Amino acid sequence: MAGPFSDIDRSIFAAKKILSEDYQPDQILERDEEIDEYRHALEDVLFGRTPQNIMLYGRTGLGKTAVTKYMMDALRKEVAERPDADTLFVHELNCNKKTVYTVVRTLVNDLLPETASKFPKRGLSTADAFEELYNQLDRHGGTHLIVFDEIDHLDDIDTLLYELPRAKSIGHITDSKVGVIGISNNYTFRQELSPKVKDTLMETEISFRPYNASELRTILADRANHAFVDGVCDDSAVARAAAIAAKDRGNARQAIDLLRVGGEVAKRQDDDQVDDSHIIEAQELVQRGRLRNRIRDQTQHAQLLLETLAYLEEQNETPARSKTIKTRYETVADSHAVDPLTTLKSIQNHLSDLHMLGFLQRTDRNRGESGGRYYEYSLDLDPDVVLDIRREIETERDP
Ligand SMILES: Nc1ncnc2c1ncn2[C@@H]1O[C@H](COP(=O)(O)OP(=O)(O)OP(=O)(O)O)[C@@H](O)[C@H]1O
Ligand SMILES: [Mg+2]
Repeated sequence: MAGPFSDIDRSIFAAKKILSEDYQPDQILERDEEIDEYRHALEDVLFGRTPQNIMLYGRTGLGKTAVTKYMMDALRKEVAERPDADTLFVHELNCNKKTVYTVVRTLVNDLLPETASKFPKRGLSTADAFEELYNQLDRHGGTHLIVFDEIDHLDDIDTLLYELPRAKSIGHITDSKVGVIGISNNYTFRQELSPKVKDTLMETEISFRPYNASELRTILADRANHAFVDGVCDDSAVARAAAIAAKDRGNARQAIDLLRVGGEVAKRQDDDQVDDSHIIEAQELVQRGRLRNRIRDQTQHAQLLLETLAYLEEQNETPARSKTIKTRYETVADSHAVDPLTTLKSIQNHLSDLHMLGFLQRTDRNRGESGGRYYEYSLDLDPDVVLDIRREIETERDP
């Protein structure tokens, strides 16, 4: 008898993983200039010289991580063929939600002998962690490239970028060489470093520009070719996904997401081709999925404030002052059995963060001599969507 899965076959996707977030392409397309700059910045490694420090900038989804992985693989292979090069160690770390202590500790643990006990999670200082890192680097010798992806998420970048790049020149290490590669999607990142770091870092900067529609088409066509069953993905689907993503900041990740979700939509509808109509349907699903992730990343109180603003928006009570928002927020917190934040200042700080992140709109009000100056806030999103997402998050938490 036919079971519930018996009619499912590979009608659309041949290798869906090629359209997934963690798939690393073997080929990088449309990034020749960036690759060329990267190549020159890394060439010292081939001759046993101290590597340059490199900082990569560019908005989200522009290939910074993918290009870096590609370059590191290529460099490893090349170094094996070059007699002048030292042994190469590449350490790739993602700094999201990490502290300088935890990333240095991770590095130390990677370098420690297998039998050694791990570097402690607590109880020692960041200076202790650096000291152990230098011991381990010298124990191994060779050249170490340390990639700090999403470096702007770290708590104390100044310390990291003041310490590591100078390790050799001030004699912390003698038998090894270190190069730092930092990746950030925050262009103001460099300006925020302390003056002494700016002066000592001497890094090569590589900036990644947004992809245009034609570049995205090339990238997508290549992925579609491998991911879909032959002949299933119509050119109109690739063109549409590329056009949508190009308009919205040239993000390749978004373009690939649209193609994957477009394929899922076609499959669900039992269509045997993916075309632009499926991509148009995918657009809303992708946007919503992205918004859900962004809301989920916020603290509980920030989420409760977003929910509060969505209610106020629905009842046409926005823009609202922080005092009004605070009163409503207390009721919302209460409905989720959460103890609310008590000070107006803490609410205002959250509102200001939510504004900076693009969730809220803020208007500056000036009531003349008597009223003073204050801000009013309203939701910069569809309130129904925010409330739906909040319900989904709450159900996940407490099914
Ligand atoms: N030139 C390219 N050729 C092939 N695939 C690419 C290219 N650029 C980006 N991609 C793909 O697009 C997606 C996003 O790229 P990546 O993760 O490298 O972006 P990013 O710049 O690191 O973004 P973020 O700042 O959000 O970390 C990945 O799946 C990556 O494989
Ligand atoms: Mg990245």
